Amino acid sequence: MPFDIQKLVRPNIAKLKPYSSAKDEFTGVAEILLDANENSLGSPLTQWYNRYPDPYQKEIKKKLSVIKSVPVNQIFLGNGSDEIIDLLYRAFCEPGKDNIIICPPTYPMYEVSANINDVAIQSAPLLTDFQLNVAHIEQLVNVNTKIIWICSPNNPTGNSLDRIDIEVILNHFDGLVVVDEAYINFSKQKSFVQSLVDYPNLVVLQTLSKAWGLAGLRVGMCFANEEVIDYLNKVKAPYNISTVNQSLVLKALEEVGQVNDMIKELVAMRIALAEVLQNMPMVEQVYPSDANFLLVKIPNATSLYQYLLTKGIVVRNRSSLLNCADTIRITVGTEAENTQLVDAMADWIDMNFE
Ligand SMILES: Cc1ncc(COP(=O)(O)O)c(C=O)c1O
Repeated sequence: MPFDIQKLVRPNIAKLKPYSSAKDEFTGVAEILLDANENSLGSPLTQWYNRYPDPYQKEIKKKLSVIKSVPVNQIFLGNGSDEIIDLLYRAFCEPGKDNIIICPPTYPMYEVSANINDVAIQSAPLLTDFQLNVAHIEQLVNVNTKIIWICSPNNPTGNSLDRIDIEVILNHFDGLVVVDEAYINFSKQKSFVQSLVDYPNLVVLQTLSKAWGLAGLRVGMCFANEEVIDYLNKVKAPYNISTVNQSLVLKALEEVGQVNDMIKELVAMRIALAEVLQNMPMVEQVYPSDANFLLVKIPNATSLYQYLLTKGIVVRNRSSLLNCADTIRITVGTEAENTQLVDAMADWIDMNFE
């Protein structure tokens, strides 16, 4: 199906004359900068914090372009992927008119952000094996459907979604298909980033919050066709990633080797933890995971959750989510943390079921 960005973008955004910052209007190097109403005397901290950051994070994008093999003009950075989720709504979904499709149980921000932006939500629940219900998704699509949200590996179930299913959706739907790959580094599956050349309607989200260990810096990445990226740049706040965060990210991006080592270690611990949990009495299921967490089904999960809290261990009770009754989601911890968790669970099982 032909991709027509003009049919997708909100008319007010298509017409929008974006804010032109001082850094947009002068991009060169100069001795004397009297253009942005910064404090010319400096700051109580390092001198250059008195200056606004690069609005387009060019240095970071240059490095990411090499790491991800994606052209710089197909990369957008947000204050976490959460900001990018919101910006996609603001650029492409007309409040009170357009709709999107989610596939629950999944990352709740797709729904929350839709509600904030007054965008209608249509739901095509995952099948019992937590795979996409492609037929149901296709049934729901109508002329006002702008985005289909796909999370792979999926939070909170942990599994990767079938690539062929995602490709079918990409081929049949002329709106945006957002594949959220927040956990892709923990998976053996191939990223969709390399498929951008094949699908103009594909938007891939990744984040530095998981495998890169930089959740505190709030940096999310979006890879998409240049027209989509241009609209995100039009809509975003001028300086959405701070100077401090940009310089720390640049430093971190030098450490691909260390990050790969952490990924290997976390995946090995996930596999080991899954095996231990699966062999515990009362554990009904440890769902297959391609992420850095495990979804575990166990009777009275809410009471287990409360018990773990009393032992100083916080997991996520996911029991209220669709098709997740009696489940907790456990992030893979350090070796010592995983042992403590398993010991506490074993005590709770002994107390409640023996
Ligand atoms: C699937 C998914 N997408 C996005 C996010 C948010 O990422 P960020 O920290 O980049 O906002 C999360 C966080 O848990 C997530 O699970």
